[in-house]
Amino acid sequence: MSKVIVHADKATAAKAVAATIRDLITAKAKAGQAAVLGLATGSTPLPLYAELVRLHREEGLSFRNVVSFNLDEYEGLSGDHPQSYRYFMEQNLFRFIDIRRENTYVPAGISADAARTCADYEAAIRTAGGIDLQVLGIGRTGHIGFNEPPSALDSRTRRVHLDEVTRRDNSVFFGELSLVPQGALTMGVGTIMDCRQVELLAFGTGKAEIIRKTLQTQPSADCPASWLQSHARCTFHLDPEANALL
Ligand code: GLP
Repeated sequence: MSKVIVHADKATAAKAVAATIRDLITAKAKAGQAAVLGLATGSTPLPLYAELVRLHREEGLSFRNVVSFNLDEYEGLSGDHPQSYRYFMEQNLFRFIDIRRENTYVPAGISADAARTCADYEAAIRTAGGIDLQVLGIGRTGHIGFNEPPSALDSRTRRVHLDEVTRRDNSVFFGELSLVPQGALTMGVGTIMDCRQVELLAFGTGKAEIIRKTLQTQPSADCPASWLQSHARCTFHLDPEANALL
């Protein structure tokens, strides 16, 4: 069963999730193991990344023993494109912490063989021992990563077509709708369900309706995030606005 925590505001939520990540990294380091983090993009995790940077700078949290896997990437964008998710991670987190670049995985937006790229991504996650903790946001279509409806419970990393609602929502970052890619590579719902722990963040009134649907309707491919209801260890971190319809 998913757990819901309503925080005073998004900064408080970000601090709580950052503390959970810090504790995981510290425990793994003590055991001589790498912590495997699943990371997300979008505006929602920005306060979380800012807090992780603060923990690194002010409290000495090291990311030398962290391996990261991002959820998704736009198809057709190279890692140095300002709207690519690789670039986003570099600008908002990686360049401020001591994570080894070779330990940071983001699906390649440009590749000769997308199916192979996706299969290799799944293999890399398995080789790393699976994801310990996955950070998630949620799109207004109910997508997690870029798993648009319909997305099956057993879907794996694959090439997907973006919903028009998502393209419009994300067009603010591109300047105009026509510049938003039509497709993406994303971890599947099954890939996300395999993560040992999931921390989903959702803030603001714009997310209230999809949070209600995600938690209060029968899990189905029509709302991919609803599959998380059956995850053994998933927490929804909301602000009061995103919680308004629960
Ligand atoms: C994108 C990402 C998702 C993210 C969603 C919500 O489409 N692929 O991982 O959760 O946007 O974005 P925001 O956090 O900006 O609302």
